[in-house]
Amino acid sequence: MSQSDIINSRQIQWFPGHMTKTLRLMEKEIRNVDCVLQILDARIPLSSLNPEIERITAGKPHLYVLNKADLADPDVTARWVAYFRLGGDGCLAVTSKNRGGVQGVKNAIETELAKLLERRAVKGMAGAKIRVMVVGIPNVGKSTFINSFAGKAAAKTGNKPGVTKGNQWIRLNKTLELLDTPGILWPKFEDPNVGLCLAFIGSINDEILDKEELAAELIKNMSGRYGKRLEERYGVTLVENTAGDGEDTKKAWEILREIARARSCLLKGSELDTKKAAGFLLDDFRSGKLGRVTLEVPEV
Ligand code: G4P
Repeated sequence: MSQSDIINSRQIQWFPGHMTKTLRLMEKEIRNVDCVLQILDARIPLSSLNPEIERITAGKPHLYVLNKADLADPDVTARWVAYFRLGGDGCLAVTSKNRGGVQGVKNAIETELAKLLERRAVKGMAGAKIRVMVVGIPNVGKSTFINSFAGKAAAKTGNKPGVTKGNQWIRLNKTLELLDTPGILWPKFEDPNVGLCLAFIGSINDEILDKEELAAELIKNMSGRYGKRLEERYGVTLVENTAGDGEDTKKAWEILREIARARSCLLKGSELDTKKAAGFLLDDFRSGKLGRVTLEVPEV
């Protein structure tokens, strides 16, 4: 773990040195691209929106791609798409993992660049290359998206945050080139909930996280809108909480213990293994076994 990897129960932070390097590379390359395609996680569209990337890419046409739509609540995803479009940017939801799951992206890029393409046509440069910078946080599915979009294994994929290394240009056809960039976070999450959401979906290196605390936070987060899913999958009973945050946390830990009991997660001497239960819960959430869940809802 590097010095910049900090974790405690209240504030999650993970910003290893290679991410600073990537930010610098992006700052250098931004002038060479026509459009920015930022991949977000459809389950946490706001928390997966990197403010540093927003800063560097401001002024370029933007297309937001809400990936892993298959894992997100479809009604909420539709609201998020409307939210980003209302802000004047392009937005569409995709499931990169599925065959044909990224259809519509090429058209969406062209829509975002309509003015540029028009200007080029007037100058007789209609076939000139369109260069798109593809950016996103670690584990958002950027490599899977690029491979799906390019129709070949163009980008290196992996299940550990931070696997894509260095910038690379990928030529899709005569007129479209993608710049693949490594997944990055930002130095400080102002809102602790952002760090939690990023940890829930696996964008923070799991090795620096306390999985039991994380699982308890996930239980708290899911208890309202998606409480039934927890009850159904683990046979636990959630009681509505009216007594404030401290009680909330206590109840979440009790549910984690119930999950350990239901899943026979036991240590020697029949003590409950809540660490193992936490692992089950996080895996179930990340793989969609708890159903399609979105943890953030747009205000409009
Ligand atoms: P990255 O480059 O942004 O770091 O992400 P990458 O493409 O490596 O994808 C990270 C994980 O997310 C992979 O799972 C990948 O399969 C999964 N993924 C990508 N897009 C989607 C999607 O649209 N829906 C779903 N459900 N999953 C998606 P993994 O566990 O690392 O590998 P595996 O499951 O492919 O074996």
